[in-house]
Amino acid sequence: MKFEDMINTIIIGDSYKLIKDIPDNSIDCIYTDIPYLSTFSGGGSLKNKLGNYIKEEVEEFSNGIDYKILKDFIRVMKKINCFIWCSKSQILDIMNFFAKYEPDINILTWTKTNPIPFGSSIWLSDIEYCLHFYKGASYNIGWKYKKKNFTSPINNKDKEKYLHPTIKPIQCVKNHLLNMTKEKDVILDPFSGSGTTCVAAKELNRKFIGIEINPEYYKISLDRLNGILANGQISFDTDIKI
Ligand SMILES: C[S@@+](CC[C@H](N)C(=O)[O-])C[C@H]1O[C@@H](n2cnc3c(N)ncnc32)[C@H](O)[C@@H]1O
Repeated sequence: MKFEDMINTIIIGDSYKLIKDIPDNSIDCIYTDIPYLSTFSGGGSLKNKLGNYIKEEVEEFSNGIDYKILKDFIRVMKKINCFIWCSKSQILDIMNFFAKYEPDINILTWTKTNPIPFGSSIWLSDIEYCLHFYKGASYNIGWKYKKKNFTSPINNKDKEKYLHPTIKPIQCVKNHLLNMTKEKDVILDPFSGSGTTCVAAKELNRKFIGIEINPEYYKISLDRLNGILANGQISFDTDIKI
């Protein structure tokens, strides 16, 4: 596929293959939320029953990623500017990969004010992690977009609207993009799900490329770009602020 045809759209397919069509040094920022590596276990305790319930919800993307795609991330970026939402168990491998390029590294977080309590777990699962790797000068933008933590309740309304179990809060994504990209920059999300990154980029006048392998999420994300909810109704979002 030609690079020009990828701009400002979401492509259905396998990002491991499609990323090969993206030229070297052509992307200003990768912003992605990779399939998580789940650490759920089976069994009969309340904790494990809850664990299995959640596992079923996210089964198809709880097997992690093949880290070889990270080499392509480095290849396609003009300079390192890469956000990766991931599970706790993936942090070490991803950090190890990027460390050799000596970027600035930060762990950004989304803190949920109403996490689901898991029986006898030691800690609540109230934090999600987004790694940011960066090499270069920062943009001079207002302090409110520079916060490393975003706090909000679990976004159940978004899940209902776009039928994706791991949808990220769009305001959080926008804050990150406002801080680390400028208008007309090209943002790539190779695991685009319900299209949160692409919608955020579009609303902020950035260019975007999304890749999603699941036909259902692909359709939902294309509709979402056009302001249509998963149930076919038009979206009248008024709670999204820049
Ligand atoms: C964690 S979800 C992304 C959710 C997204 N951030 C959102 O807000 O909706 C990861 C997505 O990657 C997709 N995926 C998994 N393997 C893929 C592959 N090889 N190529 C493209 N997409 C893939 C899954 O179908 C899933 O929708």
